[in-house]
Amino acid sequence: MTDRMVAGGRVEEDAQYEAGLRPRSLNEYIGQDRVRDNLEVSIAAARGRSEALDHVLLYGPPGLGKTTLAYVIGNEMGVPVRATAGPVIEKPGDLAAMLTNLQQHEVLFIDEIHRLPPAIEEILYPAMEDYELDIVIGQGPSARSVKVPLQRFTLIGATTRAGLLTSPLRARFGIVHRMDFYALQDMEEIVRRSARILGVSMDHAAGREVAMRSRGTPRIANRLLRRVRDYAQVRADGRITVDVAHAAMKLLEVDDQGFDEIDRKLLRTIIEKFSGGPVGVNSLAAAISEERDAIEDIYEPYLIQAGFLDRTPRGRIATARAYEYLGVTAPEKDSRLW
Ligand code: ADE
Repeated sequence: MTDRMVAGGRVEEDAQYEAGLRPRSLNEYIGQDRVRDNLEVSIAAARGRSEALDHVLLYGPPGLGKTTLAYVIGNEMGVPVRATAGPVIEKPGDLAAMLTNLQQHEVLFIDEIHRLPPAIEEILYPAMEDYELDIVIGQGPSARSVKVPLQRFTLIGATTRAGLLTSPLRARFGIVHRMDFYALQDMEEIVRRSARILGVSMDHAAGREVAMRSRGTPRIANRLLRRVRDYAQVRADGRITVDVAHAAMKLLEVDDQGFDEIDRKLLRTIIEKFSGGPVGVNSLAAAISEERDAIEDIYEPYLIQAGFLDRTPRGRIATARAYEYLGVTAPEKDSRLW
């Protein structure tokens, strides 16, 4: 899954490039207008009062810029961002150390915050609410609790699905924003900006071709752009024309919807093996040998948003667009097992 060309998740090479391509201020940040406008107000208000920004929860599919936005927020607040991730924090002491090291108004960014172990999550409750650590010293009847004051800080949590968060944790975020897939126009702007930063010449129409195949996801766009640039350098004169973009993406097996073999397999399985659905996500996962979580977090959000898949109470169904895309004739509606 990690070597999938059009996966939204971050792979090592992305991390290296993302640092250079990442916008640093809200002004440079393209798209997500609703989120950006709201954050602009929250940040200006907190700065005006010389307070820490309220805790922020960002949720949405991978690759849409949650981490980027966390660094933008830190930059706009004029404070450093200390970053970690849910699965990395193993012991309560790890998180306690990070919290006690935070200076006034600094940002602690926790990626994949839904994957914090429960015992560690509980440390966050008083830290977020009262800027206090509750430490239990000793065991049994002589155990007592000591409170350690913390600086006023901002926690920014990121997760692929807000529904995976426990409600006490979710309730402690004052600012909650959902990130959506980017509109094509925003994707084009992002691709052109990245090409400029990478110093590669790209035709206007070629930028559109890359943007169209990037599933509304900047991380995918930037990854595709790097591969298309490679192709332009090796098989052409270095410039990305429409023809070069087409040829490169054909070689990468990314089709004009930005779908790859896994997307096609998922849609084909629903249509051919489950008569178009509805099929439960567990049966679907077993049929295509993928994890249920991967289907829910990675593959299906874009297929749903692009109108190829519907999620119903009885399971997933392939839409008319999916039939059309795969070149299969859709059965008459009333002959299907609704
Ligand atoms: N690179 C990745 N995401 C971006 C965004 N939202 N705006 C500008 N550049 C980006």
